[in-house]
Amino acid sequence: MQNFQRAILTHGGACSDPRDSDGPQAAARLGLDLMADGKPALDAVVQAVKYLEDDPRFNAGTGSQIRSDDRTIQMDSSCMTGSGAFGAVAAVEGVQNPIVIAQGVLLHSPHILIAGEGARLFARTQNIPLKKPSGRGEIKTRPKKQSPSCDTVGAVAFDGTGFAAALSSGGLKHAAIGRIGDVPLPGCGLFCGPAGAVACTGDGEFIALKILAKEVYSWLEGKMSPGEAAQRAITLFDDSVDIGLIVLTKNEFAAQARSTMAWADLTVI
Ligand code: GLY
Repeated sequence: MQNFQRAILTHGGACSDPRDSDGPQAAARLGLDLMADGKPALDAVVQAVKYLEDDPRFNAGTGSQIRSDDRTIQMDSSCMTGSGAFGAVAAVEGVQNPIVIAQGVLLHSPHILIAGEGARLFARTQNIPLKKPSGRGEIKTRPKKQSPSCDTVGAVAFDGTGFAAALSSGGLKHAAIGRIGDVPLPGCGLFCGPAGAVACTGDGEFIALKILAKEVYSWLEGKMSPGEAAQRAITLFDDSVDIGLIVLTKNEFAAQARSTMAWADLTVI
């Protein structure tokens, strides 16, 4: 089977509406174009996820869920490269694009995960804007009726040399303030290495307890196809668990969800 020159998959989260696939499609196009311009897979997945964070139909960034007090928003985000670099933020408030801070943690910090106010402080030291210059307000609280009911957005990419993955989440609706899901925990929401990239979405507690992304990645290392691996991943959970994932290797990909999921793929052979 011929290897991809470039490939990217994006998703709008477990339970997102497939009629909203134009969002993941535009995000994938953005990422693929960046790689065509010579940017690495990490830039592609970060910019794709940033695009989805700015789309209020999805549960990340602008569209994030609200917490148990019906108004607070706290977000988790992470990114990883196939060479093992990892960066994440958790329970961060008042930020337009958590994924950009997560990338900053990966590139410019000795740490792998910075939480809460510390993530905002870190962003300031890196001159990462906390909100858009357009003046759209900082995302901290919102009336409850505006929250979407889907989960974490994500992207995986291959730039012809290596893999990267990225995730961003507004968390689970009405979760406790301070609750952190699978997204910023290495190997849980996402994982990548020389064999491929995996990005999960769904009920974070269940995903984290199975260290799902690392588990699926180990199946890729064992030469299981992405399609088989994605299908098998769903069977690890009870029917009541919302779960979805995208999986990419050098020459194959798959997207799978228990219920619905808006997603897109773009490949160049
Ligand atoms: N999968 C996202 C979360 O549970 O927070």
